[in-house]
Formats: sequence, C-alpha cells, structure tokens
Amino acid sequence: MSLSSITRSLSSKIESKVDKYLKKIEFEHKQVFPNIPKKFSDFNRVIGLPSLPESPGRVFSYQVEIDDAINKHHRIIINKSRKIGVTETVLRSIAKNCFSRYAGFNVMIVAGNRQKQAEDTLSRFAKLFHKGFTDLDGVKFQYRDIIKRKTKSELVFFNDTKVSIYPANAEALRGPERVICVFFDEAAHVKQLDDSKVYDALKPNLANTNGDFIIVSTPNGKRGIFYDLWQGNDFSKLEIPYTKALGGLLSKDLIDREKKDTRIDFEQEYNVKFTTSLTSAFDEDIVNEIYQPKKVTDYSDILGK
Ligand SMILES: Nc1ncnc2c1ncn2[C@@H]1O[C@H](COP(=O)(O)OP(=O)(O)OP(=O)(O)O)[C@@H](O)[C@H]1O
Ligand SMILES: [Mg+2]
Repeated sequence: MSLSSITRSLSSKIESKVDKYLKKIEFEHKQVFPNIPKKFSDFNRVIGLPSLPESPGRVFSYQVEIDDAINKHHRIIINKSRKIGVTETVLRSIAKNCFSRYAGFNVMIVAGNRQKQAEDTLSRFAKLFHKGFTDLDGVKFQYRDIIKRKTKSELVFFNDTKVSIYPANAEALRGPERVICVFFDEAAHVKQLDDSKVYDALKPNLANTNGDFIIVSTPNGKRGIFYDLWQGNDFSKLEIPYTKALGGLLSKDLIDREKKDTRIDFEQEYNVKFTTSLTSAFDEDIVNEIYQPKKVTDYSDILGK
C-alpha cells in the first residue's frame, strides 16, 4: 500500500470520527440548552397556554405588555385589577428569562404573608413545566430535563438558575448572592404596620446585579409602601384596570355583580383607584376636605389661663 493511500484512508477515518463526535456534541448541546422563543406569546405556546375551564387559553395583549415592560424597564410597578392573570404573567415572564437573561443567577419571589402561600406560588411556577415541551428545534424536553431540583422553597433549573420563594417578612428576606430578579407580589397587602421594611430588606439583594425589580398589587388605601412607590418615580408604572380584561378573564356579568356588591370597594379592587379601606372609620378624602390646619397662637386651652 502506498503512503498516499494510507494517508487518505487515515484522514477519512479521522474525518468520520470527528463528524460523529461533532454530531454527539450538537445533540448533547440541544439536550442541555433548549432553543426557546424570545417572544412572550410564542414562549407560552411552547410551554402551554394559561387557561381556565371557562376561558380557552390565549395570551392577552396586556399580558404581552407586562413582559415587554419587565424586559425594557427592569424596575416596574403594576397597579392592577383583581383576577386578571398578572401573577400568572409575571411567573411566565420570569420562566422565560430563566432560559436567557437570568441564566445562572438567582430569582427571589415574595408572595403572600405566610410560608404556605409562598410555597404554593413556587408549585404554580414548577407546574408551568409539568408537561415538558418541544423546543424550536423539535427537541422534546421532559420536566426532569428542565428542573433539576425542587424543594418547597426553591427550584433549580438545568442551567443552575435558582428560584427561591419567601413570605413577606422583613427578617426572612436576606437572599442569596447574585440576585437578578425580585418579584414582590400583592405588595399592598402585607399585613404589617410598617410594610416599607419588607421593601427595604429586598432592595440590597439587587445591588450587585442591577437586576429586575417587579412590584405588583391591587391598591389598598392611601398608605403603605405600594402607595408610596406608586406616587414616586423610582419605578416604571403600569396600570391595568378591569376594563382591559373585560370579555377575557373577567365577564361582564361578574363585573355587574361586583359593582352592585356593597361589601366590595369596586373602584379599588377592580379600577386601580387608591380609595380608603372599607374598614376605616372615616372616609379619608372627606376628612382631608374638612380638616383645615390652623396656626395656633392661643395655648390657653391646653396650658390653662
Ligand atoms: N391568558 C389567560 N388565559 C386563561 N387563563 C388565564 C390567563 N392568564 C391567567 N389565567 C388564569 O387566570 C387565573 C387568575 O390568574 P392570576 O392568579 O395570575 O390573576 P391575578 O391578577 O394575579 O389575580 P389576584 O387578583 O388574585 O392576584 C389563574 O387560574 C390563571 O391560570
Ligand atoms: Mg395575583
């Protein structure tokens, strides 16, 4: 056999080995890194659309706006009607970002006043992947390919992105290093006299990464951290009244019934207005109107003559 034919045969063997090796790497790469759509509505189609028994799955335009606002402004505050799918949307937006911008970082979700409520939110998040999905390259991923580990309070993705949940309790809010996103849900309903402590405890977690801060709530009176942040300019604001979800997640019948229900402060619960809590003894607006601060010069009433 001539030297040149030996070289030819060797190089063809090497080429075929290299080819096989590259194919294997490509396969493993696909196994580890799903090819996920960047658009929110497409992402939801891939993982499965949100749905209610009475409402077939589709993503509403205000839900796309929420995802856009998170990815554009990074620090956003959402003042919303009840029951219009905002928690669901933010969880899905976070889920999408765990495959891209948030990959390898930590995410903190603060949901509810009790540990159990926070745990339920994490289960809801994990459920997004229960059925697995088929990515844009047609590769099928099972739940266990996507979620490496889940406990009651944290979930770790295949790419080491970690999502941890917390109840709204200032003492418990020291997060891990490298936090890329904080989601503070129901921020106006923290059952603490001074709920700014919860916000103050959350802020430093994002200091190193300059990550996303997403604050969401239905209003709850002209007081508290949610009201204060809504008045300020530190966050990009998104207002979503019931009208945006009418005929979608909120039926006209339901809204007509809720408007008539005197136990419900409709303007506050559905129409993003900060009114006075129904439980207050006095209407704050009326008190503010009547109350005229006076300059006191005569102290004889207090001090005696
Ligand atoms: N686009 C959608 N299509 C169908 N169902 C949806 C859609 N988005 C959310 N849902 C469902 O609507 C229900 C209410 O959603 P979610 O809890 O996110 O609303 P919310 O605005 O956070 O409500 P709350 O005022 O209780 O905080 C959930 O069961 C959710 O899965
Ligand atoms: Mg919610």
